Amino acid sequence: MARILTGIQSTGTPHLGNLLGAIRPAIELAHAPENDSFLFIADLHSLTQVKEGEVLRKNTYATAAAWLAFGLDTDRSVFYRQSDVPEVTQLAWYLNCFFPYQRLTLAHSFKDKADRLEDVNGGLFSYPMLMAADILLYDADFVPVGKDQLQHLEMTRDVANRFNHKMGETFIVPQELTRSETMLIPGLDGAKMSKSKNNILNVFDEPGALKKLINKEIVTDATPLEDPKNPDDAVVWKLYNAMAGEVASQKMADQLRAGGYGWGHAKKELLEAIVDGFATERAAFHRWMDDPGALDAVLAKGAAQAREVAGPVLERVRSKLGY
Ligand code: ADP
Ligand code: TRP
Repeated sequence: MARILTGIQSTGTPHLGNLLGAIRPAIELAHAPENDSFLFIADLHSLTQVKEGEVLRKNTYATAAAWLAFGLDTDRSVFYRQSDVPEVTQLAWYLNCFFPYQRLTLAHSFKDKADRLEDVNGGLFSYPMLMAADILLYDADFVPVGKDQLQHLEMTRDVANRFNHKMGETFIVPQELTRSETMLIPGLDGAKMSKSKNNILNVFDEPGALKKLINKEIVTDATPLEDPKNPDDAVVWKLYNAMAGEVASQKMADQLRAGGYGWGHAKKELLEAIVDGFATERAAFHRWMDDPGALDAVLAKGAAQAREVAGPVLERVRSKLGY
């Protein structure tokens, strides 16, 4: 049995790219019978950027509702909110004291954020040690992450090794699991779909809003209806391809190439694929969002399970430190 653990940023409602590229594969991994899994919403990390409690709370709910709507089974996976497990900030402090300041100054993601953001705070700087605590507190074996998080994982391994070396074996040194980034979902404008680019499709939106967005915002060229069209460069076909499966998307590609089939037709089919394909998930998402008490209950159950593991690990660390 391997323990898989990963943290989820809660920066808003997950979009189609997040759902297909990250959430679906993570749920599959979490449910695999050979794994024991911990998934949490990294709302303490969010505080480095978001200071409004109401926004933080809403983002957490939307993220949790999306995971649950996409089928995360909390009987098979420990699902919790990072801020509900105070042990983690305590461990983060200990780890900070075992990790060289100089190494933290080399973090790419800090440098990148420090160049971009107005609020460059100390939390942003020590972010990697809170992330290391997230992982080491649960004796995780494997951590699925995107490529941008690999350096943070490296720092986690580094601080675990330093501590083990100085204080005696204490932590499991985790390994990364990188997702093959084959599933890259384009945004409405053709660039990678991303919250920061204002080109996202929120599949939980009402069908009317989705229709407007698809018709107005997805870029197409001006090829007349009757002419042959190239599906390979077309955002509408790429999105359909990600949604509809091989047979259906091949059929659309053939129709586009043959001519007499317009971008409007393709957009209509894409809309249907999203509206119908995610009907169950959309209904479930809104049911959860309308019942924050139920979300709190699910997350509280997860936090209690998480703390059962976290408490003894923290004790192990504290006894090594002589506290
Ligand atoms: P965003 O770019 O919208 O801020 P994040 O960086 O928060 O998204 O990504 C969260 C997860 O979703 C990551 O694991 C990332 O690999 C995945 N992801 C984000 N955008 C896409 C996309 N367009 N296609 C596929 N996966 C994506
Ligand atoms: N930093 C991660 C990200 O930006 C989120 C995260 C926080 C995380 N703690 C973690 C991921 C622990 C894996 C393990 O996506």
